[in-house]
Amino acid sequence: MALHVHPDIAALSPYVPGKPIEELQRELGLTRVIKLASNENPLGPSPKALAVVNETAATLHRYPDGGAYRLREALADRWKVTLEHIILGNGSDEILGMLARTFLSPGDEAVMADQTFVIYKMEVMAAHGKAVTIPLKQWRHDLSAMAAAITARTRLLFLCNPNNPTGTMVSAEEVGRLLSRLPEHVIVVFDEAYVEYVRSAEFPDSLAYVREGRNVIVLRTFSKIYGLAGLRIGYGVTTPEMTNLLNRVRPPFNANSIAQRAALAALDDDEHVANSRAVNQAGMEQVVAGLKTLGFAPIPSEANFVYFDAGRDGRELFEALLHQGVIVRHIEGRMVRVTIGQAEDNQAFLAALARVIQAS
Ligand SMILES: Cc1ncc(COP(=O)(O)O)c(C=O)c1O
Repeated sequence: MALHVHPDIAALSPYVPGKPIEELQRELGLTRVIKLASNENPLGPSPKALAVVNETAATLHRYPDGGAYRLREALADRWKVTLEHIILGNGSDEILGMLARTFLSPGDEAVMADQTFVIYKMEVMAAHGKAVTIPLKQWRHDLSAMAAAITARTRLLFLCNPNNPTGTMVSAEEVGRLLSRLPEHVIVVFDEAYVEYVRSAEFPDSLAYVREGRNVIVLRTFSKIYGLAGLRIGYGVTTPEMTNLLNRVRPPFNANSIAQRAALAALDDDEHVANSRAVNQAGMEQVVAGLKTLGFAPIPSEANFVYFDAGRDGRELFEALLHQGVIVRHIEGRMVRVTIGQAEDNQAFLAALARVIQAS
């Protein structure tokens, strides 16, 4: 029987995640594989989070706390907002979907950069909205062009800061200017998955806009610096009015019980966060210097990955590195993104890259 599919869904392609280590091992018979493809924390999970996982396992016959009281309370406390300002997601990914479903009617528009986190476009299309993509300017969000693209149909504006895949950021001043000219019917989605890695003092205080009651939502995740990507837990900080609306489409037990407990423990693990930041900073210097020595010009990054022009087809470079046991991410054309790992893995990546260049 022919399936009847909504044309907006038929037009989508499934999300392609970073290649899993086991898959490459299976395909190429490699024993040692280094994955620098999904911006994961090379130090692993927060040890404090690991410690509570076993404890929680004994209660797995129970449903999770659907309201995630303790974790939301801790987040509210940390960000100086109330419990009603916090919404949890099965990864921040899930909140992106909730935003699209809640705020887009068919044909409504969402403004985003053309090179940014691909899930925005997918969720907008899946909600029958229209993705309006604005070219980056010198690898950064072009906020003036984004503001100029706003129409009466615009409902959402996605601002990935720092941006994935470029690693670039927009400043507090630039964001302030954008918000001062934005009509009230547009919600700004600040996706700050990598905020804990940022070193620039110019980074915007987006949570201040939430506290002022502006129509913005700040998305954060436990998948990156907290090292809990496999548990799937992220959150949004926004106005109580917005959480109330988003809660209408949120699946009832979307944040699982282990994830809630582990995230609560990880949130308090300042030592793991500080170590992760330090390892990333040293690794960033190592990878950037190594890439430059090999003749590449990596784009300065505020995150835990770096984007560069491979000077050749990026897919070919990606495939050649796979044969060397290193998984990076081909984004488009000649552009490749590599996640910063621990020193030894960074070195192995640079050595593999050098071999690939020499061989061609
Ligand atoms: C910019 C950005 N936002 C959101 C996410 C999703 O994170 P989560 O694991 O919380 O769904 C990612 C993950 O790669 C990301 O890069």
